[in-house]
This record gives sequence, C-alpha cells and structure tokens, in this order.
Amino acid sequence: MPNAKKLQLGVIGDPISQSVSPAMFNPALAELGIAGHYQHYHVQKHELGDFILRLRNHEIHGINVTIPHKQNIIPLLDVLTLEAQSIDAVNTVYWQDGKLTGHNTDGAGFWLSLQRHAFKDLSQQHVVLLGAGGASLAVGYTLLQHGLASLVICNRHHDRAKSLAERWQRKFPKAHINVVEWQKFLQQGDGQANLVINTTSLGLTQQNVWPSFEFLKFLQGSCVVSDIVANPIATPLLLATQQHGLMTIAGWEMLLYQAVLAFQKFTGQNAPQALMQQHLLQILTPN
Ligand code: ATR
Repeated sequence: MPNAKKLQLGVIGDPISQSVSPAMFNPALAELGIAGHYQHYHVQKHELGDFILRLRNHEIHGINVTIPHKQNIIPLLDVLTLEAQSIDAVNTVYWQDGKLTGHNTDGAGFWLSLQRHAFKDLSQQHVVLLGAGGASLAVGYTLLQHGLASLVICNRHHDRAKSLAERWQRKFPKAHINVVEWQKFLQQGDGQANLVINTTSLGLTQQNVWPSFEFLKFLQGSCVVSDIVANPIATPLLLATQQHGLMTIAGWEMLLYQAVLAFQKFTGQNAPQALMQQHLLQILTPN
C-alpha cells in the first residue's frame, strides 16, 4: 500500500456513470478504517495517456479499468501479471515493487462465482460460451486454464468466434474447442451443454434485446445458465432460464469477486466481502 495519507482509487471508462464499483469500495475502505476514496473517472480514449500520468505522480494510487480501455492501457504500464498477459486485458492497475502493474481479476472473479455453484471440476463439463468480445477473453481463458471437457464458442459475427477459437487452440493444444453459428445455436441450442455462459452485452440495456430464447428448450434439465450481465440482477436471460426450470448464475457474483480481488491488490488487506455484497445488491436494479 502506498505511503500517501489518503488512498485515492477509482474506475476509468467511457461511459462510466453506470459503474457501481464506488458503492462496493467506499464502504469497504471505511469498514477497515482505511483513509481513502474510490470514484468514477470519465476518461476518453484520447485522454488515457494523460490520465496515466496522474498515477505516475501518485495523485491516484490504483484504478479499475473498464470499456473501452482494458486493452489500450497495456502499452502504458510497466509490467503485466501473468493473468493480465494470458487474458490480454487489464482491469486493475496498482503499484508493485516500484512498477505500475496491470492485472486482471475478471477471470479469477468468474472462477470464484462458478465455485460458489459447485463447478469445482470442469473436466467433464461441456461449456458453451456466447460472445467473443472483451468480456469473453477472461471467462473463456479461465475455463480453458482449469481444463474443461469441451468449449463451444458462438458469436453473432462468426469470424470473431473463429479467430478466438484459433488463438485459444494454439495456447491450449489439447483442448476441444469448436465454433457454432449464432443463429444455429439460437434455434437449436446444444443438448450436450452442462453450462452456457452469456458474455455478450445482450440484456444490458433495453435497446440490446435477445432475439430469441428458443435455445433454452433444447438444453438438458441439469444445464446451468450463467449471465455476466450484472445489472439488472434478474436479466431477461436469467428470468427466461428460470421459467424453463433451469439453474442460473447471476452476473453480480462475478462483479463482486473481481472487486474483492482488486481491493486486496489496492490495500494489501482482505476485503470485507459480505459488506461489499450487501452494498452491491442494494445499488443494482432488481429486474
Ligand atoms: P465487451 O468488451 O463488453 O465484451 P465487445 O468487445 O464490443 O464488448 O463485445 C460485445 C459482445 O456482445 C460481442 O460478442 C458482440 O457480438 P459481435 O462480436 O458479433 O458484435 C455481442 N453483441 C452485442 N450486441 C449483440 C446483439 N445485438 N446480438 C448478438 N450479439 C451481440
């Protein structure tokens, strides 16, 4: 932890007003008696270089990073942790051993949320990953790292799914990785799937509406559906899944755990997880 009198933390992104992170971090800092503050920083792409100088001169001590900076920030940092290198994206920046360090807690946060739902061993699991954008990188990489039976990637723009599959196949030569056309999955689902994870932005806003939930009909009764969209808590996908009688994992859990892990990096202390969860659930929209 830096020697500054007050720990100045925050989250950068464009847009940023939707981020609920301050609602988790500020009560956590207060609970542990840490003099500090966590706030939104609205940073556009062309402002990123100047913003990093505020970290370099210790005006700001640590940040979380969200859209659209998770990859752009990489060349501006001194070192990346193994997690950030592997995922190829950064969501947490802090000083370590005198170096401005880029880390990624999204993958580990997702993994902790899976563990809470008893997905401790993926070796027999057939997983469908919906999406091939920034959020998919951390989730897919983490699943492959923990060794699953097979992974199917399915994305609206099929080429993006294909290039992600090729990239991951090079990193994990023994993994069974396939791609399926987006429309095909929407219409026919996947009767083998044990876990379907939405990493697209469908359901995030009222404009971005799921075209169909037909695929839910074709999933086996034991299949679990996870949505990494955290707000609202009951996303349209989770509601539709529950109506089909299937188990769900809500996106707020990953959001909580990635913040808990980032808090530990910023402060060097264990985060008050239960308190952060309580404040997070209070600020999210129910549905
Ligand atoms: P992020 O960093 O949040 O993942 P992104 O890189 O823009 O943002 O990725 C958004 C993901 O949501 C992508 O998988 C995107 O699909 P495309 O690659 O085909 O664009 C997906 N997505 C967004 N809107 C969608 C829609 N209306 N229908 C299907 N997929 C959509």
